[in-house]
Amino acid sequence: MKLENKIALVTGASKGIGKATAIALAKEGCSVVINFKSDAKAAQEVLDECNRYSKENVVISADVSNEKEVSEMCEKIEQEFSHLDILVNNAGIFDENDNPTNVEAFENVFRNNFLSAVMVTKHILPLMKEGKIVNTSSIHGRLGHGRPTAAAYSAFKAALESWTKNLAKDLAPKILVNAVAPGRVATPMWGNPDAKEQKELGQVHLIKRMIQPEEIADAIIFLVKNDAMCGEILTIDGGMSLVTLG
Ligand SMILES: NC(=O)c1ccc[n+]([C@@H]2O[C@H](COP(=O)([O-])OP(=O)(O)OC[C@H]3O[C@@H](n4cnc5c(N)ncnc54)[C@H](OP(=O)(O)O)[C@@H]3O)[C@@H](O)[C@H]2O)c1
Repeated sequence: MKLENKIALVTGASKGIGKATAIALAKEGCSVVINFKSDAKAAQEVLDECNRYSKENVVISADVSNEKEVSEMCEKIEQEFSHLDILVNNAGIFDENDNPTNVEAFENVFRNNFLSAVMVTKHILPLMKEGKIVNTSSIHGRLGHGRPTAAAYSAFKAALESWTKNLAKDLAPKILVNAVAPGRVATPMWGNPDAKEQKELGQVHLIKRMIQPEEIADAIIFLVKNDAMCGEILTIDGGMSLVTLG
């Protein structure tokens, strides 16, 4: 798929992996809808950067864990562009209160990291005749033995991967659905680690460094361009899963 003049929505695009993906899509010539929840200044900076490479980029504030806001965002996209070619379900959170039995945290993570992708897809699909969907999972969705402070996070990334495959079966051949599963990526989700902290956090990878958000964006661009990948979960974890499995 050639990306020039395609319309792309990236959820959670004000920071981290979403930001890098929005900019990478703009560099390919896409018009990008930059969704964010709370950080309007950061979203504006992403818009300014995207405008250096492509036209008709827009910023839309919407909490993707709230179906009414999701629906309103998709209505705005319809008014602005009338259709969509590429959806990157990227928005996600890490809940500090996540633990194996904290029901409240499970509900919060479920809504922000899983149901959000289902709701955005539901409301955007009427605008997508053909194209690509990429979901952002995590290697923890498959390892199942992450920290106890990531129990809900891991569970709903696993759910996202299962849903990715079912959605792929449902939407092919017109719309191809895949996911990426990163290891530790140096983003604000980790509190903007400095070089020393990044080195320490990166020791769990065989590559002995954290992954940069642009490296995940590269993989997302690959999945969007490729017309044979369907229902795949592309792992970019610096070898972390091999280390953990011993
Ligand atoms: N970083 C990692 O090591 C890592 C590893 C594997 C997978 N992932 C996954 O990759 C995705 C992006 O992570 P990241 O590290 O780039 O995160 P990040 O740096 O914390 O950025 C999160 C982005 O999502 C947005 N967001 C959060 N909740 C939202 C909501 N309810 N509605 C709309 N936007 C929302 C934030 O917007 P505002 O700031 O404007 O609120 C921000 O733009 C997540 O799904 C995460 O689980 C990350």
